[in-house]
Amino acid sequence: MQYTIKLPNLHATKEFAKLISQSINPNFVITLKGDLGAGKTTLVREVLYHLGVVGSVKSPTYILVEPYIVNDIQINHFDLYRFNDPDEWIESGFDEYFSSNCICFIEWPEKADSYLPQVDWKLQITVDDETRSIEINSQSDKGRECLMQLTKIAAR
Ligand SMILES: Nc1ncnc2c1ncn2[C@@H]1O[C@H](COP(=O)(O)OP(=O)(O)OP(=O)(O)O)[C@@H](O)[C@H]1O
Ligand SMILES: [Mg+2]
Repeated sequence: MQYTIKLPNLHATKEFAKLISQSINPNFVITLKGDLGAGKTTLVREVLYHLGVVGSVKSPTYILVEPYIVNDIQINHFDLYRFNDPDEWIESGFDEYFSSNCICFIEWPEKADSYLPQVDWKLQITVDDETRSIEINSQSDKGRECLMQLTKIAAR
């Protein structure tokens, strides 16, 4: 299943982040693709706030992964931009970050190549001035169910 939406400004992106937070639940993996500055971190940050993360949500560009725990849910926000080789996925022990109680967001998933775990949503952001176009493709049964949930809430 595929869903696309145009977000004309930052406010619209924040509103859409709320929809995402209401549509997903633990045991979920989202990859985010898009150019540098497309808005991957901005979107994840807003989703995390809606999931209940308080305080600052920094871009994990230099540390590769930023973990959070909120309401007994583990949230892991990856940014693999600085991977020089996909093998760093194994060297960093990143498989250990995936469990049934966890929601994972992965920026620059292409850097991990075939090491990536099963993904539920592939999300792509394209930029046109201030407007962001977002395309979500579900990759699993659960991903499809959650995307249907998102379209239902969006139609309200
Ligand atoms: N409609 C919009 N939605 C989201 N961000 C927007 C929008 N319009 C402008 N922006 C700006 O675009 C920038 C996106 O930066 P961000 O760090 O989120 O990108 P990124 O995709 O994570 O980049 P990187 O690949 O470097 O991690 C922010 O400065 C944000 O304010
Ligand atoms: Mg980023």
